[in-house]
Amino acid sequence: KGLRIHAKGFLNTAVIRSEITYIDGEAGILRYRGYPIEQLALHSSHLESAYLLIYGSLPTKEQYRFFETEVMRHSVMHADAEGFFRSFRYDAHPMSMLTSAFAMLGSYYNEANPSLQGQRLYTKGDKESLATMDRQIYRLIGKATSLAAMAYRVRQGRDFVTPPVGLSYTGSFLFQMDHLGEEDYVPNPVLEKALDVLFLIHADHELNASCTTVLQTASSLVDPYSAVAAGCASLYGPLHGGANEAVIRMLVSIGSPENVPSFIEAVKRREKTLSGFGHRVYKTSDPRSFIVRKTADEVFKVTGKDALLETAMALHDAAMKDEYFVKRKLAPNVDFWCGLIYRAMGFPMDFFPVLFAVPRVVGWLAHWRQMMLQEGGVKIWRPRQVYVGAGKRDYVPVEERV
Ligand code: CMC
Repeated sequence: KGLRIHAKGFLNTAVIRSEITYIDGEAGILRYRGYPIEQLALHSSHLESAYLLIYGSLPTKEQYRFFETEVMRHSVMHADAEGFFRSFRYDAHPMSMLTSAFAMLGSYYNEANPSLQGQRLYTKGDKESLATMDRQIYRLIGKATSLAAMAYRVRQGRDFVTPPVGLSYTGSFLFQMDHLGEEDYVPNPVLEKALDVLFLIHADHELNASCTTVLQTASSLVDPYSAVAAGCASLYGPLHGGANEAVIRMLVSIGSPENVPSFIEAVKRREKTLSGFGHRVYKTSDPRSFIVRKTADEVFKVTGKDALLETAMALHDAAMKDEYFVKRKLAPNVDFWCGLIYRAMGFPMDFFPVLFAVPRVVGWLAHWRQMMLQEGGVKIWRPRQVYVGAGKRDYVPVEERV
């Protein structure tokens, strides 16, 4: 009684006031804390933008140095984690491993567990509680790359690598994945920069499915590791972070530009989905997709063009002028071109969603911190439903059922 059903899929439901990320889906605008994504992609780094997203302003030199040191220091994993990764099947999907690994981390840090420490762990203005919160943030951002690299290496049958000293966040990630014991290994600077830009533009996108899942989970005051694991699970799906993998599988199945028209027709008959197209919020091109296109050109100069690029371009051009897609305002989203870059860089296809999850940890934590410190404290998220099932019925013993 008195309840109104909101459209399926929360099409028009706001659940929080936020100061973090601004999106205008009609105009194709994305800003982190007021700064246009294009400016950040050009001038900032993933870790600097992480600080901005989480704490609200660009860091001073000292603030950045401290933040970077803490994040990198916390990237080292406890040796026990090796056994955890080795317990997975040889063909486990890296996102399953990463999701489980975030949950596992929760068991390491009792200081973040409200059930053990008392319910209200974080209070605005209380230095000690804010320092506890910061530690979880440094750990989760730092360890995200190490856990992802471990998921990668266990699949390759390689030994694990301790995070190096002196490399950037993205450089350290590449080192942990690629290092095979060479003394003079350094990641290719163009590829390191490209990955950093991709990390930066993936860092936050306000209340998408995974961020909402993190906040829904955290609203019960569970530790942030468990909340991030829940977000990671949500991101795994092909309609969300799994779309970059789905795009490549789709392009492989199309095979070559000649097959594009028949694929487009199959999409229009609703037999197929055009992965990497469409967005709940953007009704024009996703501004991140332009940055990705530019980054792709830089990467291809080093790696050579991906064999699927021509098919991707033919598909893009055909969709952009087809009435079906134009009428529904379907344009390329961030995932359309990303997979091609990751493939050219040598990442296996099922690792692509991990490359979305690692940077997105930043956004999840920015929203988690904002929610934990909001005026009036946290209220558990508990939507209502409208029950449309059977009225009261009396139990029927199994012998009497027809
Ligand atoms: N291919 C074909 N038709 C589509 C597509 C698509 N990719 N996306 C939407 N449509 C159609 C949809 O069938 C509907 O048609 P109609 O009105 O005739 O029933 C219309 O366009 C409106 O779409 P919708 O499904 O109501 O839109 P939504 O906001 O519920 O879904 C979406 C958004 C991203 C889940 C959807 O566009 C989609 O499935 N895209 C493909 C998967 C993908 O690329 N996901 C990555 C999103 S961006 C990164 C991220 O946030 O993870």
